[in-house]
Amino acid sequence: MSGYRIACIPGDGIGVEVTGEARQVLDRAAERHGFRLRWTEFDWSCERYTRTGRMMPEDGLERLAEHDAILLGAVGFPGVPDHVSLWGLLIPIRRAFDQYVNLRPVRLLPGLVSPLAGREAADLDMVIVRENSEGEYSRIGGRHNPGTPDEFVVQQSVFTRRGVHRIIRYAFELARERGGAVCSATKSNGLVHSMPFWDEVFAEVAAGYPDIPHEQCHVDALAARMVLRPDRVDVVVASNLFGDILSDLAAAVVGGLGTAPSANVNPERRHPSMFEAVHGSAPDIAGRGLANPVAQILTAAMMLDHLGEHAAGAAVRDAVDAVLRDGTVRTPDIGGRATTGELGKAIRDAVSGPR
Ligand code: NAI
Ligand code: MG
Repeated sequence: MSGYRIACIPGDGIGVEVTGEARQVLDRAAERHGFRLRWTEFDWSCERYTRTGRMMPEDGLERLAEHDAILLGAVGFPGVPDHVSLWGLLIPIRRAFDQYVNLRPVRLLPGLVSPLAGREAADLDMVIVRENSEGEYSRIGGRHNPGTPDEFVVQQSVFTRRGVHRIIRYAFELARERGGAVCSATKSNGLVHSMPFWDEVFAEVAAGYPDIPHEQCHVDALAARMVLRPDRVDVVVASNLFGDILSDLAAAVVGGLGTAPSANVNPERRHPSMFEAVHGSAPDIAGRGLANPVAQILTAAMMLDHLGEHAAGAAVRDAVDAVLRDGTVRTPDIGGRATTGELGKAIRDAVSGPR
């Protein structure tokens, strides 16, 4: 029986709750599809940071490197600054393992009512391909003349030819696989150095894919289009910051963060990829069974696809669809009264066979 070593980092808050459900769903899917998942759990979190002063141990990345994939809940805890959890855990993992693609599918799930009511599940099915290793998220810059009237800050963006080229190429490959089109998010009217460069590389890469429809769109107009004409959006490729914002918007369009999955992918597979929902640790609802586990379960299904277990991944997505379509078991964020555990169990049972 084939097996995979999975590093599991539940993190903080609802990360712990939703990851527990996702693990159980995957174990059920693995059992049904004839493979094994060998989990190693790491307590790396803000909670650990408050005890030890580190989000993860010094050899953390080496320990992760021994795994086929990483399933991450969310990190973040009131009292620990967000830059600590981001730069102490998430960004080191994304960068050390060259997870330069952040893949964020957005699909209107069966039976859920979008704020754009009247749309059908088929009208809204897009993927945000977010650059995940450079761009606006950079440490280059500084604060000058602090505390004086002349104080100013500089925050630099970094766009490399290699970095821009590979993310755009990934988007075109994905569009080819989906039979879709690529839209590049730009803002070359405002960002007069970085975005014209991005656009130039986009045109170069696009020339190599004459069969794939493509266009570029200013990020603000694209944001509006995602709400007004979501049926006209398929694969969106965007820089680190634009992709982050667009994917939260896209998630909101289909009903909120509770159902939005995401993957940090190293396409060359030289390093483990990491799978984490779009949402954070939601301290406002943590520990009360209110968290929707669907985002993390769909995230875990992306992990199965990445491992090559496409049948099991599809089975998990079908189970989510079936339970939501049925509609009797839903968490409060999507209009129900079920707990995290009840929705997780319903999905797990649906994976096991017809209900
Ligand atoms: P958040 O995503 O944790 O919560 C935003 C809102 O959405 C809250 O009202 C929350 O209750 C709701 N929500 C999120 N996930 C939900 C779910 N599965 N079911 C039902 N409702 C859900 O974002 P926020 O509040 O900005 O950040 C909270 C903490 O999480 C911060 O410390 C932040 O740094 C961290 N964070 C961590 C991320 C990660 O680990 N990748 C990503 C985003 C935030
Ligand atoms: Mg975000």
